[in-house]
Amino acid sequence: MAGVVVTSRLPGTAVERLRAEHEVRYRDEDSPVPAADRPVLLAGAEAVVVTLGHRVDAAFLDAAGPGLKVVANVAVGYDNVDLDACRERGVVVTNTPGVLTDATADIAFSLVLMVTRRLAEAEREVRSGRPWGFGMFQLLGTSVHGKAIGILGPGAIGLATARRARAFGMSVLLSGRSAPDPQAVADLDAEVVGADELLGRSDVVSVHVPLSAATRHLVDAAALARMKPTAFLVNTARGPVVDEAALVAALEGGRLAGAGLDVFEDEPRVHPGLLARDDVVLLPHIGSATVETRAAMAGLAADNVLAVLAGREPPTPVR
Ligand code: GLV
Ligand code: GLV
Repeated sequence: MAGVVVTSRLPGTAVERLRAEHEVRYRDEDSPVPAADRPVLLAGAEAVVVTLGHRVDAAFLDAAGPGLKVVANVAVGYDNVDLDACRERGVVVTNTPGVLTDATADIAFSLVLMVTRRLAEAEREVRSGRPWGFGMFQLLGTSVHGKAIGILGPGAIGLATARRARAFGMSVLLSGRSAPDPQAVADLDAEVVGADELLGRSDVVSVHVPLSAATRHLVDAAALARMKPTAFLVNTARGPVVDEAALVAALEGGRLAGAGLDVFEDEPRVHPGLLARDDVVLLPHIGSATVETRAAMAGLAADNVLAVLAGREPPTPVR
């Protein structure tokens, strides 16, 4: 029996499955663990399951102590985990790729439609109490059909978003650090281009890169300046990949047509310049938020913990 700590409430049967094999300390709450409670909660843990609200840094790992073998992040992104600190302590880190690909791509393409067709603005109009009716010139949006979507970061979620865009008659441009799967490129009839060319040619740019030192402010003032003034930016990856102040300046200057954002630089704070604009759609980081997907993410995190504690290779380690 090893000590597994689950730091916040999880859906599905993940906790039961962990309990069947291990002693589990389950903190059945949604908020991140207050720093003062960490030592008691984490002491002696061999495995810790964390969600995105937790920063797993040296202090967190030291609170668990030298017996810690694995940190299972219930998310595909793992910028909340200090990988070097884990490596130094011989702690395996796992994430939850694959199971949230479709749910997140659904939200990315929902944002494309919401911002191009002004859906949030239109919905607010109906609720406003002001008189409304069919109007020939009312709430005219922009068609996506025949336009180009640029996928910055053609990993699993980026490619899944591109497949949705194809079904809506869009052509696909791809740009990333590593070359996308050739079969996927062929299936999408996509063009692989450099980031600058992608920015300059796309009618919608959708961001799908993980957050790292290399991608922080990847979409900065210079990148936004390359985009067409008629283009839209969508971000379902991580907020800090986009320089929010530069985005607000581009929108205010009429150098960009709109933005759809599920993630923010300093969540849950939203730049007041974004809140003030009707050409911006704002969602509260719900890319993977379906009942099915969240249960699958928790289940995969449990699989990872069970494998490491049994001395096996976990299904989805972070390399
Ligand atoms: C959510 O943002 C995730 O990385 O899974
Ligand atoms: C994300 O890119 C994943 O692998 O699901």
